Amino acid sequence: MDIKTVGVVGCGLMGSGIAQVCAEGGYKVIVREVNEDLLKKGLGKIESFLTKGVEKGKVTPERKAEVLGRLEGTTSLEKFAACDIVIVVVVESVQVKHDLYQALDRICPAHTIFASNTSSLSITEMAAVTKRADRFVGMHFFNPVPLMKLTEVVRSPLTSPEAFEKAFAFAKSLGKTPIRATDRSGFIVNRLLVPYLLDAIRALEEGVGSIAHIDEGMRLGCGYPMGPFTLLDFVGLDTTYYIANIMFDEFREKRFASPPLLKRMVQAGLHGKKSGKGFYDYSQDPPQPMAGLV
Ligand code: CAA
Repeated sequence: MDIKTVGVVGCGLMGSGIAQVCAEGGYKVIVREVNEDLLKKGLGKIESFLTKGVEKGKVTPERKAEVLGRLEGTTSLEKFAACDIVIVVVVESVQVKHDLYQALDRICPAHTIFASNTSSLSITEMAAVTKRADRFVGMHFFNPVPLMKLTEVVRSPLTSPEAFEKAFAFAKSLGKTPIRATDRSGFIVNRLLVPYLLDAIRALEEGVGSIAHIDEGMRLGCGYPMGPFTLLDFVGLDTTYYIANIMFDEFREKRFASPPLLKRMVQAGLHGKKSGKGFYDYSQDPPQPMAGLV
């Protein structure tokens, strides 16, 4: 059966971006949040991104209206009975995800493919709590979803080739470049990115360079769009810490072990851009490197 209607569970930073690109791809999208407030906030993010696009001359007002017209917000899971694929984009809690997939398994028709946007949890473990492990894939998008071109499409040992190829073609139809990965914590990108980010923190702890100079080094020396500390603040220090711990748990290798400074910053509530302070202080314009971290 062709994919016509997409369900997105979760309309936070990543969920709203995924719902937006699916609507931009021509699909009817049902997006769910747990309450009206969060739903309004999430849909507001999509509207404001498209409005900025119109201001930048990248999106026409007609296109904006067309994309918004394909989105339906809900606080109920029952609506997902109409979906051909459901992407779950919620907090990285195994229990929350298991409960959601089991509920969706009862609600959705047999042909519906289940996808998870997890960055590091096991696709296989999630698939195994459903009765459709053969129709379960990972679809890992990157932040900011409307701008980043990549989607990792992940198969577990139980994923059928048909479901995998369908998800792969679906990612392509969203204008993304999909890559194939097997279910190992962090897949391809975070397996390489997370040790790099953690190593930047270790270099700072060891006094190899300052926050600004390490960032400038990677930006100008390697042509990366953001240095590691700007990227850490952008991804969220709490998120990075959480992912690193899951990856360390899976591989038991030092390269995935969180440096003490990252743990202390998370404990201190310095979560990066979203909390106003991380490796940089965002109350200043332009943001200034935080003093006194090491
Ligand atoms: N609507 C339409 N187009 C828009 C837009 C909007 N609202 N906002 C921006 N754009 C367009 C711009 O016009 C521009 O287009 P052109 O290249 O054609 O000029 C392009 O998008 C880039 O935008 P900006 O020029 O405003 O910004 P930038 O050049 O600074 O790029 C960025 C921003 C894409 C975020 C860039 O800084 C970047 O690539 N950063 C790295 C992000 C990254 O690494 N993300 C991955 C994080 S890891 C992750 O997500 C996985 C995980 O599991 C943790």
